[in-house]
Amino acid sequence: MQAITVKPPGAGITFQNVDYKNKGIKIKILENGICGTDREIVKGQLNSAAVPAGFNYLILGHEAIGIVMEDGNTFKKGDIVMPVNRRGCGKCLNCLVGRPDFCETGNFVEAGIKGMHGFMREYIYDDEKYLVRVPADIKNMAILAQPLADLEKSMDEIINIQKRMIWKCSDNTFHCLHALVIGTGTIGILFSLLLKTYGFDVTIANRRDAHEKELKIFNMTDLKYYNSANGYNFDNNSFDLIIEASGSSADVISQTLVFLKNNGIFGLFGFIRSGELGINTHMLQDFVYKSIAMVGLINGQKPHFEMAMDHLMQWKYMYPGIDKLLITDEIQISDREKITTALSEKSKDEIKTKILWD
Ligand code: BGC
Ligand code: ZN
Ligand code: ZN
Repeated sequence: MQAITVKPPGAGITFQNVDYKNKGIKIKILENGICGTDREIVKGQLNSAAVPAGFNYLILGHEAIGIVMEDGNTFKKGDIVMPVNRRGCGKCLNCLVGRPDFCETGNFVEAGIKGMHGFMREYIYDDEKYLVRVPADIKNMAILAQPLADLEKSMDEIINIQKRMIWKCSDNTFHCLHALVIGTGTIGILFSLLLKTYGFDVTIANRRDAHEKELKIFNMTDLKYYNSANGYNFDNNSFDLIIEASGSSADVISQTLVFLKNNGIFGLFGFIRSGELGINTHMLQDFVYKSIAMVGLINGQKPHFEMAMDHLMQWKYMYPGIDKLLITDEIQISDREKITTALSEKSKDEIKTKILWD
C-alpha cells in the first residue's frame, strides 16, 4: 500500500509502497492532518523522532480519521474513527491504566513520531481500544480532535493543579478569570477556543497583525487579539493563566511572567526552539511570593479525544462556519508536489491542512 515515509534523523519524505500489517481491525484512512511536529521530523529537527524496531523507515502521520472496513467488537464496518496517537510502554502504572501521556519510563511510542508507524498510509490495522468514534456531523473538522485532545488534557491538568486553592469566581464559574495565549497556530487558536468555552476571558497574541481568517474566527468567538510586535504591554497581574503556544523563543516567558496574577499558572505547550530563559532573583522571589505554578503540557489520551469530539460538535453549532475557517487547505494524496511542500513549510494563512486519501 501507498505510504508517506521518513528516515529520521534524515530530512525529506518518500512516497513509498510498504507491506506492513499489524494486529487489529482494518481501517481505511480517509484524511491526515499535518502538524508542526511532522514538519520538524521532515526537516530532521525532531530529536525524539525514531523508526520502529526492526525498520529503517518510519511511516509519518499522527492525525488521522478513517473508515472501519470490517465488524469488530465495539466498531462496525462503516464507522468513522480516529486512532489515538501515543501508546504506552507496557511497564509503568500510568501506561497500564491508559495514561501514557504520563509515562514514567519514557519508553512510550508515538505513531508517526517515535518508534511506531504512523497513519499516512492507505490502511491501518488497530486494536479497537485505541479508536475513538467520530460523529458524522463533524467529519469535515474531526481531524482537529487529535491536536485538541492534547489541549483537553492540558486543561484537565491545569484545573487539577489549580485545585490547590479556590480558582473560580463567586458564581463558581471561570467567567471572571483572564487568560493570555501566546501564538496563533493551530494550537494557539484551539487552546483559546477551549478556554473561551470554559468561560475564560481570552486574549490571543502574535507578533504581527491578525490575518483575515484569524480575525473572522476571533470576532465570531469573542477572542481578543493582541499584536505583540512591540512587546507585551499589559498591567502587571493581568492574567490568571498564560499559555505559551508559539514555540518560538524562550524570551516570551520572561517577558510575560510579570503579567501573571497571584496564584496564576503558566503553561508551556509545544517545544520552544530558541533563546534562553533569563530569570533574575527578583522574578524568582515574585514566583514564590505570588505562588505561581509552571507546567509542561503534552499529549491527550482517549478520554481527551472524546472530549475533543464533543467540543468540536459544540463549536460547529455555536459558531456556524467555523469548520471552514479552521480547515484552511485540503490536498489530494495524488498531488505529491503539494504534499511535499506542505510537509516542509507552513503556508501563510494556514490553520489546519489536510491530506485527503479518496
Ligand atoms: C502531538 C502530541 C505528541 C507530541 C510530541 C504533537 O504533535 O499532537 O500528541 O505527544 O507531538 O511528540
Ligand atoms: Zn501534532
Ligand atoms: Zn510508561
